[in-house]
Amino acid sequence: MVSFSLAAFVALAASFVSAAVPNSPRFDLSKPSYDLFRNKPLHDDTVQQGFAFDNTNRRLFVSQRRNGATETSGDLCITQLDFSGKYLGHMHLTGFGHGVSFGAQADGSATYLWAEVDANKNGYGQRLARFKFVNGATVSKSSTTLKKYKTVAAATEHTCAVDTVNNRLVVRYNTATDGKRIAVYDLAAATRGDFSAPLVDFKQPLPKTEGKNFQGYTAYGRYLYLLWGDSYDASGGVLNSQVATVDMNTGKVVQGPVITRAGSTLKFREPEGMAIYRTAAGQVRLFMGFASGDPGDRRSNLFYKNATVS
Ligand SMILES: *[C@@H]1O[C@H](CO)[C@@H](O)[C@H](O)[C@H]1NC(C)=O
Repeated sequence: MVSFSLAAFVALAASFVSAAVPNSPRFDLSKPSYDLFRNKPLHDDTVQQGFAFDNTNRRLFVSQRRNGATETSGDLCITQLDFSGKYLGHMHLTGFGHGVSFGAQADGSATYLWAEVDANKNGYGQRLARFKFVNGATVSKSSTTLKKYKTVAAATEHTCAVDTVNNRLVVRYNTATDGKRIAVYDLAAATRGDFSAPLVDFKQPLPKTEGKNFQGYTAYGRYLYLLWGDSYDASGGVLNSQVATVDMNTGKVVQGPVITRAGSTLKFREPEGMAIYRTAAGQVRLFMGFASGDPGDRRSNLFYKNATVS
C-alpha cells in the first residue's frame, strides 16, 4: 500500500508552485514621467545603451559603444555620472557586448558591475561578467579580474539588470529553441556563483512590439518592465517608444504596451535602457533612458515614473 503523509503531500504541492517572486507594488505606466536630466555628454560620443544604479553608494553608470568601435566588437565605455548628469569617471571594456542592459552592486564603498561579456559575431555577450568599476581602467574580456558566468547552460546570449531594492539579478537570455527568456536570481547567491535556484524562469512575452527595437528592461519586486522604440531618425519622426509590465509569476503582460512621451521634444530621441532606483527618502523610481543630439555628439537623458497602481 502506498501512503502519503500530509507533510509529504504539502511539500509535493509546494514544489509545483515554488517559482514565485514575493508580491510588490507595480508602477502605473499611464502616469507621467519626470526629468532627472537632459542632454548630458558621456565620456565617448555614441548613443547611450543602458544604465545602472549602485543604490547603496548612490552612483549612476551609463553604457555606450566605444568611439570608433564596430557594431559587433563588443567594445563598450561605461561612464559614471552624478545625479545631475555631471561626468565623474569612465571605464573601457573590450570584447564585452552591446550594452543594452547591465547592473551595478555595492561591495562596501566599491561598485561591482554585472555585464554581458564575450561578444559573439553579432556583438552580443555570450556570458555574464562581474567586475569592479575602476575609473580610468580598460578591462578586456580575457582579464583574470573578471568572474564569468553562463547562468543558463543552453543560452547563447546573456544580459542582466539588478532589482536594486530587492537585491535580485534579472537575466535575459537567448535560446535557440525558445527565443528570449527571463530568469531571476537572489543577488547574493549570484555573487557566490550560485545560479541553481532561480525564483522564476519564463519566456519573455512581446519580444518585439510591431517591429520596434527592444531597448531595455528592469524589474522591481514581482514586475518586469520592458522598453521598445526607435529614434526619430529611424521612425521618420514618429514617437513610437512603448513600455509594458509583466507579472513575473505568470509570465503575462499586465499593462501595456503603452506609448511613453517622456522627453518627446528631444532631438533624435532613441529609447535606451531602464533601471530601478530608491531615493534616500524612500521613493522608488522606474527610470527610462533616451539618447539625444547629433551624430558624434550624442547625449544622455534620464526620466522616471514613480506612481504605483493603488
Ligand atoms: C514623483 O516625483 C515627482 C517629482 O520628483 C513628485 O513631485 C511626486 O510627488 C512624486 N510622486 C510620487 C507618487 O512619489
